[in-house]
Amino acid sequence: MKALVLAGGSGTRLRPITHTSAKQLVPVANKPVLFYGLEAIRDAGILDVGIIVGETAAEIENAVGDGSAFGIRVTYIQQEAPLGLAHAVLIARDFLADEPFVMYLGDNLIIGGVASFVEEFRRTTPDALILLTKVDNPSAFGVAELGAEGRIIRLVEKPQDPPSDLALVGVYMFGTAVHEAVRAIKPSARGELEITEAIQWLVDGGHEVASHLVEGYWKDTGRLADMLETNRHLLESIEPAIHGSVDADSSIVGRVVIEEGASLVRSTVRGPAIIGRGTTLVDTYVGPFTSIFHSCAIERTEIEYSIVLERATIRGIGRIEDSLIGRDVEVVPSAALPKAHRLMLGDHSRVSVATTSGH
Ligand code: G1P
Repeated sequence: MKALVLAGGSGTRLRPITHTSAKQLVPVANKPVLFYGLEAIRDAGILDVGIIVGETAAEIENAVGDGSAFGIRVTYIQQEAPLGLAHAVLIARDFLADEPFVMYLGDNLIIGGVASFVEEFRRTTPDALILLTKVDNPSAFGVAELGAEGRIIRLVEKPQDPPSDLALVGVYMFGTAVHEAVRAIKPSARGELEITEAIQWLVDGGHEVASHLVEGYWKDTGRLADMLETNRHLLESIEPAIHGSVDADSSIVGRVVIEEGASLVRSTVRGPAIIGRGTTLVDTYVGPFTSIFHSCAIERTEIEYSIVLERATIRGIGRIEDSLIGRDVEVVPSAALPKAHRLMLGDHSRVSVATTSGH
């Protein structure tokens, strides 16, 4: 069995972070989202992995290499434009050959991995096995309508009027029939070859499409709120470890990881939280569910329920919550007159300033 991991796509829902980097490489609990998927695939006993890459190919290849760091063999497959998940299967035809495969969306995270689903697929050998989970906002996903005994009647992509609350999780298992399906379908209204429609084509053609309800934790990290929520969930089970330096005036409470070369000066970290390699905290409070990545400098700040990427500088600007702060970003106070916010923000940045009047 092989794996096809999708790490192309333009990540429009995570702009401006994705203007400059791949959404699959944003770290949650200080590890790129994509790495959790690659580890899950390896743990399911699949070693031959094709990664579909797009505009951010160089960055993904730089991070994953030949896969040996994960114990897998990686083949990169270039997708010239984000033309859909089924299009990815189409262009991976040579790599996949006639082997069954698991398709894994690189921004999805399933806690507990995929080994049990892969095992079920290997044992029962349907033409496709899809994973479903109950969500509050089905219109944002592919949605399944099930009949008696969990039989799939219909699958619809991002329906305005969802037939159920069962979303398609971004992990699919296929036999060879899917290759015919992806050749048969036409692009959707959003101009993509939808895997949802390819699976519907299999259902309509009388192929065996099995489904499995995922009870555990699953998130598509394509939006900021989901990214922060996934970060929260992963931090809840990190193994506490202090490798960096913590001065006598600092304190650490609860489940906290301080990576090597990180240093705390007169600071408090209340876990679950992780402070990355080479990061310094001075007169700072880091609250629960916060991941600060490598080589950041944070001073006279309170920050909670947030993700900070490498080399960001944050100094003396009060309290930050619910935030994703990109690489090399500077957030600092200004004493210059006139007293004003001075901003240089990338396209699609979002800033909410807490005002004293509350407006
Ligand atoms: C894709 C699929 C959708 C599925 C989702 C899971 O959506 O098209 O059916 O529910 O992944 O993450 P996209 O992220 O491309 O909008």
